[in-house]
Amino acid sequence: MLVVRAAGAIVGVAALESLGDGTIDLAEILVHPLAEHTGVGSLLVKAALQQARRMKAKRIMTHAQDASGRDFFIHRGFVAIDDRRLERKP
Ligand SMILES: CC(C)(COP(=O)(O)OP(=O)(O)OC[C@H]1O[C@@H](n2cnc3c(N)ncnc32)[C@H](O)[C@@H]1OP(=O)(O)O)[C@@H](O)C(=O)NCCC(=O)NCCS
Repeated sequence: MLVVRAAGAIVGVAALESLGDGTIDLAEILVHPLAEHTGVGSLLVKAALQQARRMKAKRIMTHAQDASGRDFFIHRGFVAIDDRRLERKP
């Protein structure tokens, strides 16, 4: 679990899970609505990629809830593998 705090409050969280085949699942990433578009989500993705590299993962995958979430991940190097799932190398 990755947590971003600002002024003592939690403004973003992300959950990473190893699927055991060299894949890390970035299962959830959620930023508080008041903290969106301030770089918190980017920070969480960066930390998730660092953790995946430390774990020597071959790929990191994630799931987009909607089109804007999908664009967010595509702008961060992920490639869509179907309507909802995306992946990239760490
Ligand atoms: C998708 C989500 C995680 C993005 O989080 P975020 O904190 O808004 O992400 P960022 O602020 O890092 O980036 C969002 C956009 O704001 C821009 N941005 C970042 N910092 C900025 C700043 N200081 N000023 C202006 N714009 C900024 C980024 O460039 C980015 O645009 P881009 O994708 O075109 O590059 C967030 O909107 C969210 O929690 N959504 C609901 C849950 C969800 O869909 N999760 C994903 C699937 S599990």
